[in-house]
Amino acid sequence: NADPRAELKRKAAIEAADMVREGMVVGLGSGSTSAFMIEELGRRWAEGLRFCAIPTSERSAEQARSHGIRLVTFATHPQIDIDIDGADEVERGSLNLIKGLGGALFREKIVAAASRKFVVVVDDSKLVDRLGARVPVPVEVATFGWTSTARQLEALGARITQRMDRSGNVFVTDGGNMILDCHFGEIADSAQLQAQLAQVVGVIETGLFIGRTSEVIVATATGLQKLVA
Ligand code: A5P
Repeated sequence: NADPRAELKRKAAIEAADMVREGMVVGLGSGSTSAFMIEELGRRWAEGLRFCAIPTSERSAEQARSHGIRLVTFATHPQIDIDIDGADEVERGSLNLIKGLGGALFREKIVAAASRKFVVVVDDSKLVDRLGARVPVPVEVATFGWTSTARQLEALGARITQRMDRSGNVFVTDGGNMILDCHFGEIADSAQLQAQLAQVVGVIETGLFIGRTSEVIVATATGLQKLVA
């Protein structure tokens, strides 16, 4: 069951981990690429690098703790120096993203929004000309009244699937909400769509990350590429 893209993900993740300096406040992303980044930061921590981190999911928190990395909260550390996270799709021209196929989009967006620098780590299979062609937009919604919320999302043109977990139960986010995967096909104007989705009552957050990316580190078979906003 090995991930054929794992080696590329690891290379991008290590390059990003190299941007973390002594004393920084670091946002720790979620997903398989971020897991390589946390592993590398764990290695650097063991070598004596000291920083503190705010994780974007329970899973990333657990992994960071297992390396002894110091975790903090917004209450004491409201400003993050660098946030490093993966993505499900990266739009080449705009560096806008779709995130959340792993389910952590809400915390991920809060951390990205509080960060001076938001660095995205991907392998080149994630680069697209237009967002939405291959993956849905994950939308985190409140469980109360979700069928009504779903109808309003459908009215915006989405075909909706309710996110389930591996055991076939309704997927529950770290925040206790659910996710509706909204299939729009290629999205012509992702900023406009984000604005429309945010208007829907019951929507907590969406996986569209618009205008937040500082830099994308892309691992390709022939080496690393950096895309800068
Ligand atoms: C988690 O909810 C997501 O936003 C991830 O950042 C995204 O799914 C990328 O995951 P991989 O690195 O596993 O592809």
